[in-house]
Amino acid sequence: MNTVYLNGQFRPRAEATISVEDRGFIFGDGVYEVWRVVNGRLFEADRHLARLARGLRELRIDSTPATKGDGVQAIAERLLAENGLTEGEATLYMEVTRGAAPRTHHFPPAGTPPTVFAMTNRFVPPDDERARGVSAVIVQDVRWLRCDIKTVQLLPNVLAKQAAQEKGAMEAIFVRDGIVMEGSHSNLFGVIGGELRTHPTTNLILPGITRAVVLELARALGIPSREEAFTFAELPHVDELFLAGTTTDVTPVVRVDDLTIGSGKPGPISLRLLKELRTHIDASCAAVSA
Ligand code: PDD
Repeated sequence: MNTVYLNGQFRPRAEATISVEDRGFIFGDGVYEVWRVVNGRLFEADRHLARLARGLRELRIDSTPATKGDGVQAIAERLLAENGLTEGEATLYMEVTRGAAPRTHHFPPAGTPPTVFAMTNRFVPPDDERARGVSAVIVQDVRWLRCDIKTVQLLPNVLAKQAAQEKGAMEAIFVRDGIVMEGSHSNLFGVIGGELRTHPTTNLILPGITRAVVLELARALGIPSREEAFTFAELPHVDELFLAGTTTDVTPVVRVDDLTIGSGKPGPISLRLLKELRTHIDASCAAVSA
């Protein structure tokens, strides 16, 4: 049996139901967050909390104790314990919507409680895939202009990832006006002339937590890095390419559509950062001895 959290209650997944008038269901009117969990500890808990709080502010959905630091930690602790996930790897998903109310486009009456849902799942990193490198496809970025908010309105991302899936690729890479943006569920880095490059955190990409960590690791390792986008036209000149995300870690990309990236094998900088990230996640989540 699997326990989930919904609006203050812990219940079996099959029994947790929301209203058909929930604005998350009707309008995609909500935000979500995904934490990586190792040995029962949330990796980069605070940065994910800050992004969740910002998303709620931007959408003008009220935060509740359950969506803030201690609340999220308490929910995570109980879900991980009840679901047997205090050891090994897992993810915590939290979604907050504007709540349930008769359908009107404008906000529901003040005081309508947000819907808060959380679940945990076992996560098994696909180490082989990362060691081999993956392929990706290019899709036009048709998303709205607030990709910096982690909303549950993920239809362009869903269609993009499905396009990748149908071509046997692991990820779809969004290109907008000739500029390489990010993946459908990950950020993207390139190595050009020995320098790490990634799109800056504007309104057009999600400010990924893994992206930020990778930039910090790269700087600590003395790998030159620049938050400056590269173009689709530059792709043939990119020596290495990799995805970064909570469930993607660092995943080398060795093929984009028909284009082979670099040698067709994961490059040294990608592999170094993959290894450093793993070490960093494990160290951050190591149990503190009593
Ligand atoms: N996706 N860009 C997009 C569009 C994303 O959806 C994600 C994460 C990222 C990487 O962000 P982070 O490093 O904070 O996970 C970038 C999550 C994991 C998901 O939708 O499941």
